[in-house]
Amino acid sequence: MSEQGKRAAGRAAAELVEPGMRLGLGTGSTVEHLLVALAERDLDVAGIPTSEATAARCRELGLRLITPDEVDELDLAIDGADEIDPQLSATKGGGGALLREKVVASMARRFVLIAGREKLVERLGDSFPLPIEVVPFAIAPVTRELTSRGFDVQVRRDPDGQQTRTDNGNALLAARYPGGIDDPAITDVTLTMLPGVAASGLFVELAHLAVIASGDDIEVVRPAVEPTTDASDQPGGG
Ligand code: A5P
Repeated sequence: MSEQGKRAAGRAAAELVEPGMRLGLGTGSTVEHLLVALAERDLDVAGIPTSEATAARCRELGLRLITPDEVDELDLAIDGADEIDPQLSATKGGGGALLREKVVASMARRFVLIAGREKLVERLGDSFPLPIEVVPFAIAPVTRELTSRGFDVQVRRDPDGQQTRTDNGNALLAARYPGGIDDPAITDVTLTMLPGVAASGLFVELAHLAVIASGDDIEVVRPAVEPTTDASDQPGGG
């Protein structure tokens, strides 16, 4: 996505935030624009960051941070995505923050995705290999199991060739399924039950809406069937 689109999506999502809210603050280059816009609005809000990178950026911007043990739930969580399907299920974790992102999304009464139009797909896993966070001890058995189930699996590495480690000290697998994932809900449960898997990057029917940018144009997309909680807000109104 162009920087212009990321900026438009991030800034539009910042308009959903009201004074006093407890927020989930996602990770990535689109969220960067959300954080800047939030800091500019100078509201009395506090947020749980989904990565050390987001936490560091919030400190620079003067955004107040809280931890998962300080609140029972969050009013709103906002995060980027790598793929979004028509039901607003998403593939996430391109930035390696999927586990904390999933914990934070699960704490939120409303979860909003921000992304460019090119992230909209008919089928998850088709354009982006699914990130899976796994404890280092289990890399080999989980890779073997996924391979036997038809996935093409790579261990994610840093530019220097070392295996990537997440903020939680875990490894990341990139699992591509030929033709994409048939049933994200079943796949997520199946993957998450494998011993050693900490989280899959499938965020199934968690999002209440998506703020989608094409250049400066913003579209608010809702899932065909909405998740259980309220999703009446739209950027700038509602
Ligand atoms: C972080 O782990 C990811 O889930 C990001 O939210 C996702 O990769 C989108 O990132 P960008 O906004 O940088 O495209």
